[in-house]
Amino acid sequence: MTAPQAVPVGRQLRSTLGCFATGITVVATGGQQPHGMTANSFTSVSIEPPLVLVCVRVDAVFHESLRAFGSYSVNVLSAAQEEVARHFANPARHAVGNEFPLGNWSTSEQTGALLLRDSHAWLDCRLEQVYDGGDHSIFLGRVLDFGADIAAEPLLYYEGEYHNLSRSQFTVPHRDSGARRTADALRSASVPT
Ligand SMILES: Cc1cc2nc3c(=O)[nH]c(=O)nc-3n(C[C@H](O)[C@H](O)[C@H](O)COP(=O)(O)O)c2cc1C
Repeated sequence: MTAPQAVPVGRQLRSTLGCFATGITVVATGGQQPHGMTANSFTSVSIEPPLVLVCVRVDAVFHESLRAFGSYSVNVLSAAQEEVARHFANPARHAVGNEFPLGNWSTSEQTGALLLRDSHAWLDCRLEQVYDGGDHSIFLGRVLDFGADIAAEPLLYYEGEYHNLSRSQFTVPHRDSGARRTADALRSASVPT
């Protein structure tokens, strides 16, 4: 009789962490050799000052690109952008000449990072600090500029799969008209530095 195979702890931990539903972003640099990478480790950190973070594997091509460029954009994907998420998670994309064939990308005025203008939301960030995070580094960024298409619907990631959640599925009215007006006023606002 063969002994039952122990499930590696790393795999168990991954599947446990996969119970935490997240949105999906593509983080991007700019300059001569811009890179983008699908990331769901994006987190808001502070409103005043405006700080966010993203965790990047130390052996990712994007890790070196971010350290060298010193700024990054965070592009929150909409439900219609699963193909974009898959592209920027595929290591084979580096072999193709143009890493940004999908989406409406343009260079940001504040940092020069590439912004996905047809995303659900975007933030343009200057790198503030890099912290050790084991096999990842934690990149803390100061938000210099941001914008959102608040009518779009989010792309979600849960239990290792992409999901869509249409607004009609929201069980609680998620925004009153006052909050919507505030969001409209904030759209594409610049943050004083
Ligand atoms: C849904 C999803 C979320 C991901 N989130 C992260 C992340 O937060 N940090 C990270 O380093 N890699 C993350 N990855 C893996 C990278 O996107 C992938 O390994 C990528 O090819 C690495 O970038 P590189 O080609 O620049 O090395 C994620 C992949 C997927 C599919």
